[in-house]
Amino acid sequence: MKINLIGGGPAGLYFALLMKKSDPAHDITVTERNAPDDTFGWGVVFSDQTLENFRAADVETWERITSSFVHWDDIDVHVRGRVITSGGHGFAGIARKKLLNILQQRCADLGVALRFQTEVRDDSDLNRFGLAGADLIVAADGANSAVRARHALRFGPDLDIGTARFIWLGTTFPFEAFTFYFLENPHGVFQAHCYRFDEDTSTFIVECDDTSWRRAGYDRLDLDATVTASEALFRPWLAGHRLMSNARHLAEPWSRFVRVRNRAWFHGNVVLVGDAAHTAHFSVGSGTKLAMEDAIALARVLAHGGPTAEALSAYQDERMTEALRLQNAARNSMQWFETVTRYISLEPEQFTYSLLTRSQRVSHENLRLRDPAYLGGVQRWFAARTTSPADAEPPPPMFTPFSLRGMTVANRVVVAPMDMYSADEGTPTDFHLVHLGTRALSGAGLIITEMTCTSPQARITPGCTGMYRPEHVAAWRRIVEFVHRHSAAKICLQLGHSGAKGSIKVPWEGTDAPLDDGNWEVIAPSAVRHAPSLHLPRAMTRADMTRIRDEFVAATRMGIDAGFDMLELHCAHGYLLSSFITPLSNHRDDEYGGSLENRLRFPLEVFGAMRSVWPDERPMSVRISATDWVEGGVTGDDAVAIARAFGAAGADAVHVSTGQTSVDAHPVYGRMYQTPFSDQVRNEAGIPTIAVGAITEADQVNAIIAAGRADLCALARPHLTDPFWTLHAAAELGYAGQRWPAQYLAGRQQLERTLQRKATTP
Ligand SMILES: Cc1cc2nc3c(=O)[nH]c(=O)nc-3n(C[C@H](O)[C@H](O)[C@H](O)COP(=O)(O)OP(=O)(O)OC[C@H]3O[C@@H](n4cnc5c(N)ncnc54)[C@H](O)[C@@H]3O)c2cc1C
Ligand SMILES: Cc1cc2nc3c(=O)[nH]c(=O)nc-3n(C[C@H](O)[C@H](O)[C@H](O)COP(=O)(O)O)c2cc1C
Repeated sequence: MKINLIGGGPAGLYFALLMKKSDPAHDITVTERNAPDDTFGWGVVFSDQTLENFRAADVETWERITSSFVHWDDIDVHVRGRVITSGGHGFAGIARKKLLNILQQRCADLGVALRFQTEVRDDSDLNRFGLAGADLIVAADGANSAVRARHALRFGPDLDIGTARFIWLGTTFPFEAFTFYFLENPHGVFQAHCYRFDEDTSTFIVECDDTSWRRAGYDRLDLDATVTASEALFRPWLAGHRLMSNARHLAEPWSRFVRVRNRAWFHGNVVLVGDAAHTAHFSVGSGTKLAMEDAIALARVLAHGGPTAEALSAYQDERMTEALRLQNAARNSMQWFETVTRYISLEPEQFTYSLLTRSQRVSHENLRLRDPAYLGGVQRWFAARTTSPADAEPPPPMFTPFSLRGMTVANRVVVAPMDMYSADEGTPTDFHLVHLGTRALSGAGLIITEMTCTSPQARITPGCTGMYRPEHVAAWRRIVEFVHRHSAAKICLQLGHSGAKGSIKVPWEGTDAPLDDGNWEVIAPSAVRHAPSLHLPRAMTRADMTRIRDEFVAATRMGIDAGFDMLELHCAHGYLLSSFITPLSNHRDDEYGGSLENRLRFPLEVFGAMRSVWPDERPMSVRISATDWVEGGVTGDDAVAIARAFGAAGADAVHVSTGQTSVDAHPVYGRMYQTPFSDQVRNEAGIPTIAVGAITEADQVNAIIAAGRADLCALARPHLTDPFWTLHAAAELGYAGQRWPAQYLAGRQQLERTLQRKATTP
């Protein structure tokens, strides 16, 4: 096979040597614009797992790489005068130049032709160098790939430019651990990511957000002045060592990270590898790993035949999935650093924990495995902030109590609101008593009722619960009294109005299907249909607003009579109040439409009226859709403003959901996918939050709570399949302090014994 590679970085060189090794008859040429010893950048890191993959692919290269390594286990975080160390991270660093030299040498030994200092404009330019007629052309020309640009219509590249600024420097300071410095000054927050990669050199990447960068005047400095200014900034830690640049070829000293994705990775006989195909933010240290693992996968699919479409699609399928997985983690990590000003005032313990778990790939139990002493310290610190006695064995973060006004919940688990569509003319039935009663026995700290509607017309379906008739109060009181008598759980009433999503069948009789008969008039801020099959709502008048507000107040009073501990106003998911907040459904031109301030006016009026009758010592929360997932809709930044507005009106917590406000939404699903919005709202608006959405494991709840991404975690679907989710979590974590219903103690003992046996059986 005749193979031409454009670009002699890690991806190109590694692929070339693996192919040549698999069949010395292959005619392989690598064309690289730089000289063999040009070094742009400093060190790269690999995890132990990545090294195992390299060993399997080519043991000679692996041996040379590993004999040049600097290993470390610890991560040191310097913040606000403290240094916090966590161990067990198992990484190794190598100079990029050394890595390239090893790969170049191995290529040369195997007989790969290497042409340096030869710039190829793109693949159409290869014939200029006598390289026409290849069976396979490999675009290994990095993040700015010219080959990819030439075939942009085929590859469908999608580039996303990060907001932070960074510069990749080196230093002679001999770091013993992977080190992060965080520094706050009047210009903003600045950070350095540092690690040693050989005897006497370390990588030193300086990064900051755009505002800090401009305020510090970095936008006006040339390279030398930037290096001097960075040295001055981090002088207290550098012990006289200098910072150095080897990037004099770049037009600008500072860069912004470019996330690269492509719809397709091959076209005809041209295939993308490494950064040309995908990039992952440097803070997850995986760019070179991904590039070299692409090379392994591509060489493997080509080992038994030519570059057929089947072989190249097998490569694309395998590697695209892996790259996307890593890019999701890398996006979380990048966003953490971009928004570090949000976290800088957290206490150093929480700041560090938040940093370590930023990608959502490293969990609470992961950290325990890596460094039990560090994790124990986190748990002790976290528990000491609550009412738990500091000298007792600290409970996992999810089992610490939390207070809002006069209400204290025993732990951080919430049974999320879930409409059961099983009411009788708005009256909760025995189904609700059993359903909510069972979940109260589950050990969760807080139970939130389904959206309970303030009038017959406020219901979504005829099966929705209501709070507008005396019999509703009595039925709810029966449930609340059961919860209070038989469990330690608190119970919160969620009140809402369906708006444009109302007057439909229960879900198991049809999706978004209007009733066969008995439909009622639906109202909304504007005459905008939520979905083609739903009713066209009537735009509300001021008189409608007054009536609706008064219905919410009447329902609030009934909630007091029924004995609820907490009240939640449903302003999410496209129901009436949510549809005022999002510009997608609020097209009003009066003082209730237009700006966010105007769109919030009616929901805030309702909230304020409810707060004024709801007892002072009992908390209130608001559920919001923190993003519409639609261009031009509500964003995370809007959610912060919305949370601040409700906070100022007396809300004690914001329950952060997303979406369901438009059929045009493009949500990005994944584990804990809404938690980043909770994190943003909590840490920017400074208001307690409840996170919800694809949180399924105790490990996740612990990490979210300990990192300060939320104060409470609500789980909906997991509680449908496992009503005793919290009791199970306590048993699995070996947490003895969980209160179990006395009637269930025999089950507890058996479960704990079974789990113990499992843990000790090899
Ligand atoms: C600040 C920073 C820190 C990083 N830290 C790490 C880390 O710790 N660990 C890690 O794994 N990764 C890290 N990376 C990412 C890593 O550098 C890349 O992911 C990796 O180098 C990708 O390898 P590649 O071979 O695909 O591309 P590259 O290494 O970019 O190689 C592409 C090659 O193609 C050549 N080339 C480009 N165009 C042409 C042309 N027209 N003609 C001829 N030659 C051409 C270039 O000169 C270059 O040598 C970091 C990146 C940055 C920006
Ligand atoms: C059957 C069902 C009914 C729901 N009803 C409500 C509701 O009445 N009020 C509300 O705010 N959210 C409601 N939700 C949304 C959940 O509270 C939660 O936000 C969503 O299911 C995501 O959490 P999960 O991934 O833990 O299921 C409902 C969800 C389900 C599955």
